[in-house]
Amino acid sequence: MSAVTNTFENVKAVILSAHKSSTSREKVNFYNSWAENYDQDVAVLDYRAPSLAANSISSHFNGDREAAVVLDVACGTGLVAKQLRKHGFKHFMGIDGSEAMLDLARESGLYQDLKQSLLGEEPLPVQWGFFDVVVIVGALSVGQVPVDAVRNLCNSTKPGGYVCMTTRSNCDNVDYKVSLERELKQMEEEGLWTCVDVTEVEDWERAVSEQEDGYTSGAVYLYKKL
Ligand SMILES: C[S@@+](CC[C@H](N)C(=O)[O-])C[C@H]1O[C@@H](n2cnc3c(N)ncnc32)[C@H](O)[C@@H]1O
Repeated sequence: MSAVTNTFENVKAVILSAHKSSTSREKVNFYNSWAENYDQDVAVLDYRAPSLAANSISSHFNGDREAAVVLDVACGTGLVAKQLRKHGFKHFMGIDGSEAMLDLARESGLYQDLKQSLLGEEPLPVQWGFFDVVVIVGALSVGQVPVDAVRNLCNSTKPGGYVCMTTRSNCDNVDYKVSLERELKQMEEEGLWTCVDVTEVEDWERAVSEQEDGYTSGAVYLYKKL
């Protein structure tokens, strides 16, 4: 990890450079190049999504946390498992498209298993109906993981298990958020899961787009598989 903390302007420039990536593969390559500075750069952005998702899971999960198996999809460097560990969860499997992010997740020592997979292009490399909790944070947004991947998050979860997802509400992600919410509702109507909680958060993270100032908002969704 670099010893010098980046300025907000530098972090903003790094993230805006990623907007040039038009395919999932290009986006994952961007994460390969960002991995080393990711944790300290997202701290500059006041990125709280991992702790917000972990709080949501923790406030509704009433099973045995020490025995529960958590699938962390788009796990990145491991910030979500780090937060869930504080709430008593101990068993984690992580999936991500970026080898460099996975290397850092491996170094964290938090995961028993880590696999590379490009969501939207490759099948989710897991057993269906196995996980007590499935979580995806910071990756359901335009240009990253496609909306239809949420069906496989539900497929991977045990009946009675939880799926926790986050997305941002900033202007470039508005259409994606609408499609995501349509799919979540559609799956509820199909009897696949039930909505437990939706938390809209005003101060999600510091805004980096040219059109916005201050903080962008975001949302945490928690569903229970039927
Ligand atoms: C903003 S980071 C979030 C990482 C972690 N969940 C967190 O909250 O810190 C997004 C992660 O999603 C991964 N990602 C983006 N699109 C992906 C895709 N199509 N398939 C697999 N991983 C993807 C990236 O490699 C990156 O590690």
